[in-house]
Amino acid sequence: MLRSLAFVSVAALAHSANAISYFIDASSYISDWIPVNYTTEGNWPSSTLAAQQEIVKAADYWNQQGPWSVMNKSIIAPTGDPHDYLSWSPYWWPDCSNVHNTTELTQDQIMTQCNYYQRDGQFNPDRTLVNDTGSFAVLSSSVFYNVLAYRITGDDTYAGKASHLIDTWFVNNDTFMNPNLEYSQVIRGANGTKTGAHTGVLDLHCITKIVSGILVMRAMGAQAWTATLDSAMVEWTKKYLVWLTTNPIAMEEKAAKNNHGSFYYSQTASLQILVGDYTAATATLNEFYEGIYQAQITKTGEQPFEAERTRGYHYRSYNAGAVITLNRIADYLKAMNGWETKTSAGADIQDAVDFAMTVQPDDEGPTEAYPNIAAIASQYGDADGKYASFLASKEKTYPGQAWFFWNQPLSDSGLQVHIDDTGNILAGPGSSTNSASSSSATGSSNGNKNNGASSSVSSSGWMLMGAVAAGIATLL
Ligand SMILES: *[C@@H]1O[C@H](CO)[C@@H](O)[C@H](O)[C@H]1NC(C)=O
Ligand SMILES: *[C@@H]1O[C@H](CO)[C@@H](O)[C@H](O)[C@H]1NC(C)=O
Ligand SMILES: *[C@@H]1O[C@H](CO)[C@@H](O)[C@H](O)[C@H]1NC(C)=O
Ligand SMILES: *[C@@H]1O[C@H](CO)[C@@H](O)[C@H](O)[C@H]1NC(C)=O
Ligand SMILES: *[C@@H]1O[C@H](CO)[C@@H](O)[C@H](O)[C@H]1NC(C)=O
Ligand SMILES: *[C@@H]1O[C@H](CO)[C@@H](O)[C@H](O)[C@H]1NC(C)=O
Repeated sequence: MLRSLAFVSVAALAHSANAISYFIDASSYISDWIPVNYTTEGNWPSSTLAAQQEIVKAADYWNQQGPWSVMNKSIIAPTGDPHDYLSWSPYWWPDCSNVHNTTELTQDQIMTQCNYYQRDGQFNPDRTLVNDTGSFAVLSSSVFYNVLAYRITGDDTYAGKASHLIDTWFVNNDTFMNPNLEYSQVIRGANGTKTGAHTGVLDLHCITKIVSGILVMRAMGAQAWTATLDSAMVEWTKKYLVWLTTNPIAMEEKAAKNNHGSFYYSQTASLQILVGDYTAATATLNEFYEGIYQAQITKTGEQPFEAERTRGYHYRSYNAGAVITLNRIADYLKAMNGWETKTSAGADIQDAVDFAMTVQPDDEGPTEAYPNIAAIASQYGDADGKYASFLASKEKTYPGQAWFFWNQPLSDSGLQVHIDDTGNILAGPGSSTNSASSSSATGSSNGNKNNGASSSVSSSGWMLMGAVAAGIATLL
């Protein structure tokens, strides 16, 4: 393995804010299920070579951080057990007028003696004191990119990183998380709930990324993913599934009509797959499609339960991302076809994403919708080029984004994307240095089943493919 020849240093990446935010955007919410067979089989289109590089860079970036654990926080749940997951409802603030204090109150006194009230949309900055939510989100992304990087490079080191991250969060006796969300999104204060809220179940929705990552490592027979770790993870999951399918907090989340409900189902079904209970996973999916899904998309493609939220652009993408993940889980199970399943208004996820494409993001981050659009194009086809040209008009580097890799087939619009020395994704042909070394590297596969560079000619042409393949080759 020539890992030391990686062409992008992490120091360079740190200056590339765009690239880093894409690492997070590309998988924090959306398309958070690795299509397992597509990934393991490895006949990826040559147009995805820049996206492959981006994924490896993302894994390298995240590997400079972590591992993450619920033990990382200094504040502990009311049980006094540091293994308990804890997060606070972010929009709640203290009003200490009920305390009639004469001296300044300590943080602990504020949290226990003052009344807390809601200021919708306004984050209480003290939420930084507990950040299990953020830790779990980046853990999930890190596992996701490490597993993909393992498959792309063939380097077991990446599977080792993913396995270590999973071990630390879920399994290791000193650092594991208790398998429940009793203290997720707690409302603090003298008059607070002091236990978790149903909305806190959403905190673990990114677990679908971890599950699909484990399925890829299992399918590839990754050495680092040992039988011992696998069975310990399955044991954890079985316990958590009992909580997730019986606890009143979880049942309330399941009843939510909007993205909260959708993510409840994707989380639950994926974990049922992990423990090998395909019957239960199929039942979970059926319950979703026959239940809350029926009212989620109207005839026009609008998602009424998301449109009514304050950040409607974000929430439409968010729920569409959940449905796409559910459809991919259904594909994995070969249980039903979620893409063709209609709501009671006769609409499907393509209608929802088509509608979302017409919504202006205003001051919300516009990129969140892009992976969904790519997913729809890859699934339903893009005969008139509508999806590719929309993406090209918004984001000239889209074929270099990580999500371009697993949302195939999708045209790269001839954008000739490459990744420069400092890790930026740029449209246009690569530097002459890269091109010069391209001839020897075209079609590099290193016994890795990655024959992407010769499997199909992308519209960006052979010259670019050579350049990008040269970059990939340095990673193999
Ligand atoms: C978080 O906890 C893990 C496991 O104990 C540890 O390896 C890691 O260094 C901690 N991270 C921080 C930032 O303290
Ligand atoms: C408590 O009382 C002191 C003095 O009256 C005041 O300065 C302080 O802001 C009050 N509130 C808190 C939260 O400490
Ligand atoms: C606590 O009391 C405040 C009024 O001081 C109220 O606005 C808030 O909703 C109450 N909290 C809960 C959780 O009921
Ligand atoms: C929580 O952790 C994530 C991941 O490390 C980080 O990006 C985020 O800024 C943190 N959030 C807060 C509020 O500290
Ligand atoms: C795990 O930790 C608990 C509590 O710290 C301890 O009692 C137990 O012996 C440990 N188990 C193993 C297998 O190390
Ligand atoms: C994925 O590949 C495996 C192994 O070849 C096969 O058994 C399974 O049916 C495939 N799954 C799908 C959804 O095509």
